[in-house]
Amino acid sequence: MTDQTPIENPLHGRMEAFRTRWSGAPAKMLVGGEWREAQSGETFTTEDPATGEQLAEVASAGQADVDAAVAAARTAFEGSWSKVKPDERARLINKLADLIEANGDELALIETLDVGRPIQFSRMMDVGGAISQLRYQAGWATKLQGETNEISAPGEWLSYVLREPVGVAGQIVPWNFPLAMACGKLGPALAAGCTVVLKPAEQTPLSTVRLGELALEAGFPEGVINIVTGFGRTAGAALASHMDVDKIAFTGSTQTGRAIIDASKSNFKRVSLELGGKSPTFIFADADLSKAIPAAAMGIFFNAGQVCAAGSRLFVQESVADQVLEGIAGMARMLRVGHTLDPETVIGPLVSEVQLDRVTGYIESGRVEGATIMVGGGRRDGQGWFVEPTVLVDTEASMAVRREEIFGPVLCAHRFSDAEDADRLARMGNETEFGLAASIWTRDITMAHKLARRLKAGTIRINGSGGVDPALPLGGFKSSGWGRENGRAGVEAYTELKAISVALG
Ligand code: NAI
Ligand code: MG
Repeated sequence: MTDQTPIENPLHGRMEAFRTRWSGAPAKMLVGGEWREAQSGETFTTEDPATGEQLAEVASAGQADVDAAVAAARTAFEGSWSKVKPDERARLINKLADLIEANGDELALIETLDVGRPIQFSRMMDVGGAISQLRYQAGWATKLQGETNEISAPGEWLSYVLREPVGVAGQIVPWNFPLAMACGKLGPALAAGCTVVLKPAEQTPLSTVRLGELALEAGFPEGVINIVTGFGRTAGAALASHMDVDKIAFTGSTQTGRAIIDASKSNFKRVSLELGGKSPTFIFADADLSKAIPAAAMGIFFNAGQVCAAGSRLFVQESVADQVLEGIAGMARMLRVGHTLDPETVIGPLVSEVQLDRVTGYIESGRVEGATIMVGGGRRDGQGWFVEPTVLVDTEASMAVRREEIFGPVLCAHRFSDAEDADRLARMGNETEFGLAASIWTRDITMAHKLARRLKAGTIRINGSGGVDPALPLGGFKSSGWGRENGRAGVEAYTELKAISVALG
């Protein structure tokens, strides 16, 4: 007997719920505890990158909406939120984490559809990442301290330094990890006692809207968390230049990072920038290749390369180069590229047609400049914004594909022969304007540490790979940004120091 019984798709009911939830009236913005349309009445559409299908209409914020959100955040900062005790702030942040956990399947599906994340990753990485960020950051609410300082005139003064919240924080998030990054930004701001106006990317607003609903359910006072959905050049620019915003935290492109710096000059607001990279992976001949090869492959192909710390340049020692490149190319061919709702899919689409054109344009530029396409190299036929996992070999430092952030599943490989010269290897690693991350694979632990010391990169992994850890500072040298998120440095970036001295004489 052939089994004709339709397989029960566990996502089926959730898809119905998703459509019911998002296909009706345009999603609104959260301002001062209320859900509002844009004052202009304008909306925009967000799509599913796996199909190009329109998912939802969303309110498009303009200057007036940003003004209202900032005013609400200011009122809450000076008023209700300033009276909430640190342990209550921690409880609220943890409560939000609990609600994200309780609604994890729904949030994972939103992220899969709106961002193009394969479903097998969205529950673990997006939802899991959001929860671990909030739980880690909640701990800081009760642990931030000022200090008592013995100053230059002992006995004559009592001096102490207060650590105060910086005020109203504007937070601008990109489209690659919207939920986890929103929580990674909200957590430290709220822990430090700031209030927030949060803007998700126009490609991926839906999980942030849902996050706003959960924040209200968690019990945050009105105006503590405000959400404005809209475009960068309107809503984002209005937030970055706003005279009553005390700090901007931004993750995205270097170009927009520069625009944020320009806009922030209006009132010298504090700025933290996480601007991506062109991170090197070094594989030495003595490395454990059974680990290094899959890690290097997933380091660039995971999330179709749309990861700030993606290992997009590979420096591999000549004597193992063929073996390593064959191994990575083999994975490129084998990894399942497909619809994001298919539980077997490993590689999903790029977020938009704009990014598809950008990434395929880079592959073509590499070919024109003389690189060889070892595997991949093109768009996948059919609907959605899919690019094949691609390995470019024979790349040179002068090529655009070796210097610029492609933000797609494109690895640029280069062979090295002198494995003893840490200075020379570090110069190769440091040859771009970026300095976000690096990976080193070798059993020569002295070389690993020598190279790590010489590399200009904010995050370096030796003989292992891993994602963002909320306890570790994240950020970059050079054009990869300003400041650090996460860890102590991340939460302290939402504070100001105030030195107070009392004369004892
Ligand atoms: P983008 O930097 O323009 O967008 C990121 C966020 O900034 C979005 O929320 C956007 O609305 C906002 N934004 C845009 N212009 C703004 C402005 N003038 N003022 C204030 N906010 C503004 O990045 P885009 O155009 O989406 O992607 C282009 C490239 O940027 C990618 O190919 C990639 O190389 C890089 N990128 C890096 C990311 C990272 O994780 N470091 C994330 C996203 C993009
Ligand atoms: Mg979308």
